[in-house]
Amino acid sequence: MENLSSIIQGIHHVTAGVEGAQEDIDFFATIVGQRFCKQTVLMDGDLPIYHMYYGNQNAEIGTIMTSFPFKQVGVRGRRGSGQVKVTGYTVPEGSLEFWVNRFENNHVEHGQIEKRFGQRRLSFFHPCGLEFELVEDNNDTREGYVSDEISADYAVKGFHSVTMSIREVDEQMRFFTQALGFKMTGQEGPFYQLELNEGGAAKTVIFKHEPDVPQGSWINGAGIIHHVAFAVATDEEMHKVRHFIEGLGFTDISEIKDRYYFHSCYVRSPGGILCEFSTCDLGLTLDESLEELGSTLLLPPWKLDEAEEILNFLEPVVNPQIQKVKK
Ligand SMILES: [Fe+2]
Repeated sequence: MENLSSIIQGIHHVTAGVEGAQEDIDFFATIVGQRFCKQTVLMDGDLPIYHMYYGNQNAEIGTIMTSFPFKQVGVRGRRGSGQVKVTGYTVPEGSLEFWVNRFENNHVEHGQIEKRFGQRRLSFFHPCGLEFELVEDNNDTREGYVSDEISADYAVKGFHSVTMSIREVDEQMRFFTQALGFKMTGQEGPFYQLELNEGGAAKTVIFKHEPDVPQGSWINGAGIIHHVAFAVATDEEMHKVRHFIEGLGFTDISEIKDRYYFHSCYVRSPGGILCEFSTCDLGLTLDESLEELGSTLLLPPWKLDEAEEILNFLEPVVNPQIQKVKK
């Protein structure tokens, strides 16, 4: 095997640390218009922290933003290099003017419409300070989540890319090309665009070369993206990924962890960004139906004996889509 391009399918999910749980739901579900499709808890360590999932209409892999609201426990990360700096979503072409108005009306901090790598894009910010962007792309045919306020002409379809802030390009480029099998498809100033196989939405990674930006936190905490995950089909493929990456010298790749909805392993890329590999064969409908996704807090079986303690600690949240979910 020359590299992992025949195994890795693109972005699986992106995971952020945010501040308040309800603030996060209101941002992703109401303003960005993502389907709130899972409420569970952080599975590492002892802190009782929500783990929220937001995706498109069908809660597809490659559309799922997940977040850990850290406000209640007061842990905050520092943004910097060695992190995913911007998470990009695709939207229909011609929709960015709608989004400028929407962000204005909802007091969401945003940038100007600009063009890079041939695509119009618009940056905007989560209340905890995280940067996102909308990228116009009609080649992406995934079905956006439609609400009373956001029609299919404007709805977010899923991930376009992540942009990583890195202080040095060469070794991060080696990891993404020689190990993962991405190809560099463009450079504009400090931005390097890499694409996997046929490229496009959810198969794009961008490096932003920021040699003077101090390194950001690697901890789990509010205000930073903790990691980006790439999709592999099954455990069998995951073992091939681990074997291959370990053989290149990345002996710190983690064991395979049970995340209940998928299995995962993690490796720290040379630029400092934590990369995860996650399987696609379990899925969010393991413990609730597609129609009911996100309607209630669900714990994995091994957390059930802590349920009372967790429920007593976590501030209750309101799912604004619940009536629609239950239709
Ligand atoms: Fe993850």
